[in-house]
Amino acid sequence: RVLRGRPRDLAGHKIVISAGGTREAIDPVRFIGNRSSGLQGYALARTAVARGAEVTLVAANVSLPDPAGAAVVRVGSTAELREAVLAASEKADAVVMAAAVADFRPASRHESKIKKTDGEPDPIHLTKNPDILAELGRLRREAGAGPRVIVGFAAETDDVLANGQAKLARKGCDLLVVNQVGEGLAFGTPDNAATVLVAGGEPVEVPRGPKDDVADAVWDLVAPRLS
Ligand code: CTP
Ligand code: CA
Repeated sequence: RVLRGRPRDLAGHKIVISAGGTREAIDPVRFIGNRSSGLQGYALARTAVARGAEVTLVAANVSLPDPAGAAVVRVGSTAELREAVLAASEKADAVVMAAAVADFRPASRHESKIKKTDGEPDPIHLTKNPDILAELGRLRREAGAGPRVIVGFAAETDDVLANGQAKLARKGCDLLVVNQVGEGLAFGTPDNAATVLVAGGEPVEVPRGPKDDVADAVWDLVAPRLS
């Protein structure tokens, strides 16, 4: 797909996008993590470049070629993602957290590979990871620092809109892109469909379509908030 005919409405703006899914080491060969291909995050990066933005893409465990024109920072764990996103966000006008961030990590990491024994394995104790999106919202609220526009993503299953509205408020972001999970949508597929929840506004429905179209619908909402 050649990206032509787009408005240059993000020109002059620095935008940080996170993509993929973080992984937390259990031992040198195993991890726990989140399922994410990175396709939606990469579509956001590609379309933002096409609309004139200066893009930093923080990619967690994504096996896709670098999008042309974006600065790509590759990370593995949530701690690495957090560091890269917070550093890039200091000078950014907008941040879009499309990455699937592991909520938990093993409380301790084995230095050598856990071997099978005759008995049952030891349980893996988990501890909570920092919430990067909430931290960005808090920094802005408390210190007036950081990006003017903060966008989160959420995949919800049950009470999709109510869960999404609560999450939008809890995280202090401006837009929350709620993916409809299931029916062959989202993970690893070229198509997506979403409802974008808007802080202090009406939700915007994005019909099922290519991830580039969902990305453009997000930028259509971000661009006016930047000027
Ligand atoms: N997120 C984040 N840091 C985390 C977890 C999530 O920055 N530790 C971001 C994601 O990148 C996404 C948004 O928060 O943009 C929502 O993620 P989600 O997993 O839906 O929210 P959680 O608060 O983790 O709630 P849940 O219990 O539903 O997983
Ligand atoms: Ca989560």
